[in-house]
Amino acid sequence: MKVSIIGLGSRGKNYGTHLSKMQDVQIVAVCDKYRNKVDIVGKMWGVAENMRFTDENEFFALGKVADVMVIATQDRDHYSHSKKALELGYNLLVEKPLSPIIEECLELEKLARVKGLKVLVCHVLRYAPYYRKIKEIIASGILGEVKEIRHSENISYWHYTHSYVRGNWRREDTTSPLLLAKCCHDADLLYWFTGSKCKSLSSYGSQSYFNHANAPEGAAQNCFDCKLRTTCLFEAEYQYCGRKTLIGRTKPKFPWGTYAFCQSADKKDILAALKTGERGKEFARCVFHCDNNVVDRQTVMMEMQNGIICTLTVDAFNDKNHRHTEIRGSKGMLIADDSHSVLTLKLFDKAAKRITVNPLAVLKGHYGGDQGIVKAVYNILNVDGDYPGYTWIKDTVESHRIVAAAELSRAKNGEKVDMQTIPDII
Ligand SMILES: NC(=O)c1ccc[n+]([C@@H]2O[C@H](COP(=O)([O-])OP(=O)(O)OC[C@H]3O[C@@H](n4cnc5c(N)ncnc54)[C@H](O)[C@@H]3O)[C@@H](O)[C@H]2O)c1
Repeated sequence: MKVSIIGLGSRGKNYGTHLSKMQDVQIVAVCDKYRNKVDIVGKMWGVAENMRFTDENEFFALGKVADVMVIATQDRDHYSHSKKALELGYNLLVEKPLSPIIEECLELEKLARVKGLKVLVCHVLRYAPYYRKIKEIIASGILGEVKEIRHSENISYWHYTHSYVRGNWRREDTTSPLLLAKCCHDADLLYWFTGSKCKSLSSYGSQSYFNHANAPEGAAQNCFDCKLRTTCLFEAEYQYCGRKTLIGRTKPKFPWGTYAFCQSADKKDILAALKTGERGKEFARCVFHCDNNVVDRQTVMMEMQNGIICTLTVDAFNDKNHRHTEIRGSKGMLIADDSHSVLTLKLFDKAAKRITVNPLAVLKGHYGGDQGIVKAVYNILNVDGDYPGYTWIKDTVESHRIVAAAELSRAKNGEKVDMQTIPDII
């Protein structure tokens, strides 16, 4: 299987690394705006020098040189890059979100359908053993008739400030609303778990904390100039390198986040990037003095077409990243928390049973989902068969419709939105 990849940031590099380790897979062309990224991975994956591009026009002008293209550029580029690739006849593995504009999602779905091309969208959780086990338990019927699902996406304060206050996904007008950027996965899980499209919903949410009004007195614009830096929870050095204390340095909160602005893992380089790097300086801005406008908490209440009621919440006020799910049926409930690999099955009138799911997978990217989706791409192109549960582009349209409706409702202060009013596949 020949692969070409555009976008060599953390996601593109991650998929490429998994693919490069698979037998019968060859990465033949790569493209990123930054020469150093292209050359580092190009060398690592054995891509010929004349097939490493920094200009997307030259990359697409190659025509179809592989069986599948991985598209891992930023949110607002997925539509144009997918369209160009589909027109060239590529099958796709494309990062979520497909597009914040529902009409663009529908256009891509139609283009893929008309051309008979296969498009998988990276809702990686569906490929993680942990989430597949939840789906299997629901489908077994042991919970009886599912009545309600409560699902929360808990973003740690350090991840939230990195991505949604200082980083790439801080403004919904230039990237995506938080619900799309972070929770199209969760909308997709609810659609998958219930086996039903959504009938109607309403949603509330706002940016309530990370704004100028909440800046502590005397907080500077930049962490390195700030007199509060030795005690601030969000201070950049503390976040990425740990804080110096009398007995040494504390552990950094988000060491792998530095890849967004510094290609070296050396603390001196990271600190230099934060102080003077064009990109790094953005991550040293005071979290109360940024230009972010995405929400820091949001709730969506949904009634599915088959009658199941779902609630989805997301917020930034947590110590660690984790998703918590409760599935309530007529015969019992399943409680899942993906910060560990244990599910709790509590059937009414019976003792609770703990189900451990592949503890090693939990340690991998998206609980094994990153590796799982790459294998899925290989299967659909090389192994015959039916693949229920894969995230085909038509499924993505539904999760993106749910988000579009929720954003509409949020803008109208929680007004109920009938899903029939949101454009759908025809
Ligand atoms: N599936 C998931 O769970 C998951 C998790 C995180 C991010 N994402 C999504 O994946 C995408 C990439 O995220 P990331 O964290 O890797 O971001 P990133 O910023 O690290 O990587 C994006 C890369 O694309 C490159 N790029 C941008 N425009 C380009 C162009 N025109 N031509 C060539 N290269 C270009 C950038 O230089 C960068 O290296 C985003 O859309 C994000 O929302 C998905």
